[in-house]
Amino acid sequence: MKKSTMETMMNFCNRYGFVFQGSEIYGGLANTWDYGPLGTRLKNNLKDAWRYYFIQKPDNSFELDSDILMNPTVWEASGHLESFTDPLLDCKECQTRHRADNLINSFDETVNADSMTQNEMNEFIKNKHVPCPNCGKSNFTDIRQFNMMFATQRGVTESKSVTIYLRPENAQGEYVNFLNVLRTMRVKLPFSIGQIGKAFRNEITPGNFIFRTIEFEQMEYQNFCKKGDDEQLYEYFKRYGMEFFEFLGLSSEHLQYHDHAKLAHYAKSACDIEYLFPFGWGEINGTHNRTDFDLRRHQEYSGKNLTYFDEETKEKFIPYIIESTYGVGRILLALLFEAYDEEIINENDTRQVLRLKPFLAPIKVNVLPLVKKRHTEKAAAVYSMLKSHFMTSYDDAGNIGKRYRRADAIGTPFAVTIDDNTLESNVVTLRDRDTMEQISLNIDSLVEYIRKAVAF
Ligand code: GAP
Repeated sequence: MKKSTMETMMNFCNRYGFVFQGSEIYGGLANTWDYGPLGTRLKNNLKDAWRYYFIQKPDNSFELDSDILMNPTVWEASGHLESFTDPLLDCKECQTRHRADNLINSFDETVNADSMTQNEMNEFIKNKHVPCPNCGKSNFTDIRQFNMMFATQRGVTESKSVTIYLRPENAQGEYVNFLNVLRTMRVKLPFSIGQIGKAFRNEITPGNFIFRTIEFEQMEYQNFCKKGDDEQLYEYFKRYGMEFFEFLGLSSEHLQYHDHAKLAHYAKSACDIEYLFPFGWGEINGTHNRTDFDLRRHQEYSGKNLTYFDEETKEKFIPYIIESTYGVGRILLALLFEAYDEEIINENDTRQVLRLKPFLAPIKVNVLPLVKKRHTEKAAAVYSMLKSHFMTSYDDAGNIGKRYRRADAIGTPFAVTIDDNTLESNVVTLRDRDTMEQISLNIDSLVEYIRKAVAF
């Protein structure tokens, strides 16, 4: 059972500073969102967890930070200029634009628009009189393929400018640096390159909050391997992805694999991991067997030799690539839904609590003087000590119960209360967010205790 609706989550995120509407004071811009102070911390903790799981733990795994803007021939070689398109049509009555596959899928759930050709979709919409979701009439233009890449101009004068693109995926930065990483890291196959970075897509369909945005971050992972090892590695990375999500705290009941019927232009096989959002199952990861498609095309378009020489077998070949890609915003949204709870404490009392894994929590510990007049000096000293180790907050406003509740709502795992006992014997009260139980702890052991609890 989901514990909150999308509307509750949007209000929650706005109220506590996780996510705000993009350019809010100007009325926003469709499918853009800004991460607030707590959302930014949660995002950074999620990225650190990915780095731990994908860069630190595996052997021969390297992180890269390539530029968003690339030589435009990259997008010819990758096939994005030709094939990275959505089938769009316009309603002639109300002038709204729609994706043909979405129209068909929401009209008849038993039909799989993914496996239809453009002509079949056109016929289906006409013959079945599929209505426009905005005005209810059925009078559409024919479907046109619309490229989802954002284009911009580089150059001083318009006549001499060149069209370049905001990258629609991180992956190509990893592919064009394949030889550089191979050479500088002195590795053998199989090895991996991972990258966290922004990608941009001109999405026209409604976004479901931060699920579908025009600017988003991906944590992409490319494993370069030998043909013949690819199928086993593909299965391995599908499983590894599922383990990663469980490590992050997503429940296995809310996760499922979804094999693709219709494959992207580069893939031999593809499988998503989906999370059960309030609007239904939604993709948060994709694992693809991209074969040698990408490196072969880059070799062809760049004229550079991208073959790998296997010292043992003395063979030369273009490596295969198994890609496993993770959307930062979508995973963050799944984590919020998973963690959010409105807990009934007794007949008259409920609390909002965000049960994030401690390593993901934006703030690790909240320091509270029990009585402002008497305990501020000591509390300030404890705060100062803790903040050199952890993201720490300090709260002396309102009664202690309310202060606990505010920190529970944003997922702070620990509260440290300073009282007379602290002044007399250096002992604080440490309260656990989830159980609400309290223990006494000497200040000298506080850092070590919290450090263990917030580690991966
Ligand atoms: N390099 C392969 C690739 O980009 P993809 O399935 O198109 O594959 C990878 O995207 C991941 O990026 C998705 O699993 C999803 O988490 C995220 N993603 C894709 N489009 C998105 C969008 N418009 N808004 C937010 N996240 C998106």
